[in-house]
Amino acid sequence: MGNFLSAILSSYEGKEDELIPILQQVQEKLGYLPEEAMLEIAKFTGVSESKIYGVASFYAQFRFTPVGKNKVTVCRGTACYVRGAPRILEEVERRLGIRDGETTKDLEYTIDTVACIGCCALSPCMMINKEVHIKLTPPKIDKIFSK
Ligand code: FES
Repeated sequence: MGNFLSAILSSYEGKEDELIPILQQVQEKLGYLPEEAMLEIAKFTGVSESKIYGVASFYAQFRFTPVGKNKVTVCRGTACYVRGAPRILEEVERRLGIRDGETTKDLEYTIDTVACIGCCALSPCMMINKEVHIKLTPPKIDKIFSK
């Protein structure tokens, strides 16, 4: 942790209102906010760790667990929902052995859900990184993850 965090912190003065930019930079670098980093940031800014967690939890952009190399984003929007998105999410969760918001132990996959991917007419859909998969069915999910 040490080096890169000191490098980030060295460009700040340690004021409370620098908290968000610091958290953003750490997350940008690591993909999440590890506990050790939160501790260091608490020391540096003089803001308690619990308050920092409170602030960070308020913003959806921050996460406290590592992200996988591949991000699987399942749409839970209305169009997808009525065409079976819950079963799609269930199937993805079953295939990867994790729940929505979690990351596989080998750090390969993270599952997330969003309100719309923007291809409602071709629902249900999901994205794996930037690639969109449309008109999904459980067997299709199976095929995608067998690759
Ligand atoms: S609701 Fe799923 S793509 Fe729009």
